[in-house]
Amino acid sequence: MPWKRRPFTGGTLAGARNIADLRELARRRVPGLAFEYVEGGAEDESTRRGNRAGFEQLRRLPQTLVDTSRRQLRGTILGAPAEAPLVIAPTGLNNMLHPEGDLALARAAARRGIPFTLSSLSTTRLEEVAARAGGRLWMQLYVLKDRAIARELMQRAAAAGYEALVFTTDCNIFGSREWDQRNFSAPGRPTMRAALDTLRHPRWLYNILVRYGIPRFRNVESFLPPGKATALGGSTVLPGLFEATITWDDIAWIRQFWRGKLLIKGVLTAGDAERALALGCDGIVLSNHGGRQLDYCVTALEVLPEVAAAVRGRLPIVIDGGFRRGTDIIKALALGAEAVMLGRATLYGLAAGGETGVARALEMLCAETDRVLGMLGCNSVSELGPQHVRRA
Ligand SMILES: Cc1cc2nc3c(=O)[nH]c(=O)nc-3n(C[C@H](O)[C@H](O)[C@H](O)COP(=O)(O)O)c2cc1C
Repeated sequence: MPWKRRPFTGGTLAGARNIADLRELARRRVPGLAFEYVEGGAEDESTRRGNRAGFEQLRRLPQTLVDTSRRQLRGTILGAPAEAPLVIAPTGLNNMLHPEGDLALARAAARRGIPFTLSSLSTTRLEEVAARAGGRLWMQLYVLKDRAIARELMQRAAAAGYEALVFTTDCNIFGSREWDQRNFSAPGRPTMRAALDTLRHPRWLYNILVRYGIPRFRNVESFLPPGKATALGGSTVLPGLFEATITWDDIAWIRQFWRGKLLIKGVLTAGDAERALALGCDGIVLSNHGGRQLDYCVTALEVLPEVAAAVRGRLPIVIDGGFRRGTDIIKALALGAEAVMLGRATLYGLAAGGETGVARALEMLCAETDRVLGMLGCNSVSELGPQHVRRA
């Protein structure tokens, strides 16, 4: 029998070599309904697949015979020190993956010396994350139909000392994630098959549902109708709360309640980046929401060069979508991003092993980024430039 490469079959964090291995551990540890929620993209999932495929099209150009023994990943993000050019992205419902969800992600980020972004739809109150995790905290904002929700979130985040607000603008209409929907016979009602599948994950069932009850949208629960604040109940009302009227004029409205740094998440054109700059925003997140919103959408990576050329270093660019390897991170930094936001990569770590799993994901990505940096002939990420990548 010919020698064959074997997929990851180990069952432990220690045995995992890369983010794909963590994903495999996550897939085994949480029920399909929770894994699908994380994994799924909108409609045909062309955007989600495109995010990964985009990295294949870029090759790297190393410079040889350079002393890279002094290399390090340290730098700044939004003008403040960071130990690596990474930020944990906002993701809702993190406690569906692990009972410590948001706290585990925030603590691992703090330990690594990088910012963590808490979702408006988090399952831990923003005050609790500030008190129990510390570190550099960013607050993600959805402006929903009831504007009082956003107003309260901004005021609370400011009082709790959050450094930056990340205003997500690509959810004016809620995306249609069909794989996620297939687990439910009606919103909030898991199919018999999905319910039975949870029984095959007794550890998850005990740790999450038995010990703590169905995770709740803690940040916004006082605004939701009675019985609708849980992950299941919320899914019957939240999609309808997304607000189609949000426009650039709302930046001025946000500024009435938020004096800290402001980033716009969901920018994908040079024109919109220039608009954010003109309105005095402190940064943008180039993002297609991990392929969960608009299908057949451009990738953040492909528009990065034109956006970087338009803002010419006057506006920090954070980027996300499909980052699973240090090599992906290096490509984006070379093309002009200041930092990369990690969505699913750290969620896989969370589902695989809580805070330790997230730390493991960050450790893998930092080690890979450091190695690639050295192989390219650089000592710091600030030395990276477009000369280090070429279209395949
Ligand atoms: C499970 C999940 C939940 C998410 N929830 C939010 C959210 O509440 N707010 C937000 O701005 N983006 C949200 N996103 C999008 C992420 O912030 C980020 O843009 C995306 O995950 C990046 O792609 P990646 O997962 O391929 O790294 C979510 C993504 C996932 C996977």
